[in-house]
Amino acid sequence: MVKWIKLTVINDNKPNSSLLNDWGWSILIETDKWVLLYDADTEPRIMENNIKALGIDLNRIDAAFLSHYHADHYGGFKYISEIRRGLIVYVPDVDDVLRRWGLNPVTVRDSKEVLEDAVTTGVMSGMGVYEHSLIIKLSGYGSVVVVGCSHPGIDNIVKRSHELLGDVYLIIGGFHGPSRQQLDVVAKYSRYVCPAHCSGDEARHYVSVAYRDKYCDVKTGTVIILPMS
Ligand SMILES: [Fe+2]
Repeated sequence: MVKWIKLTVINDNKPNSSLLNDWGWSILIETDKWVLLYDADTEPRIMENNIKALGIDLNRIDAAFLSHYHADHYGGFKYISEIRRGLIVYVPDVDDVLRRWGLNPVTVRDSKEVLEDAVTTGVMSGMGVYEHSLIIKLSGYGSVVVVGCSHPGIDNIVKRSHELLGDVYLIIGGFHGPSRQQLDVVAKYSRYVCPAHCSGDEARHYVSVAYRDKYCDVKTGTVIILPMS
């Protein structure tokens, strides 16, 4: 199992004055075993600016992951393709856009390991969107779940993750304007809850008040090192 995980938010809806920002989501996941780019925001120029400003070396990336085919998650892969032609991207559906840009999309259906101790939930559907999420086994702490926009429901994703790999240590990403009941389910299953991207201010506020000891604040440029100290 991986011993540590470093999450670097390349872009989130929430701005950071030292970086560029727009509506979108992209997060770099580094571990002691591999480096993976999860989603790639909307704008290639924002990805390029923030990747350079954050000192990220794209040549270190082993693979990429696309949660779902919406432009605020795949748009910036155009920039990635200029630096890393042929990079494998695990995708939940068939679409030609990444291949046209010179990347190597690999379509997944069911849950499977994509890198050592990193498993896709398998494709889940909701609101007419095919989407998958990533679960990483963190040694001694449970699993870390990274989501894109949670069209299948953030409560359903956390339950699926729990079924697949047991206790959830942290969940981060877009929760898609969830209800309080959905957030209660997430908080029940996960030690830390990090609503980002399309979660909305109301969801962030609710978690920060109702589950203060679980909440973590995410914005563009946020770095989280796990396990939490
Ligand atoms: Fe989104």
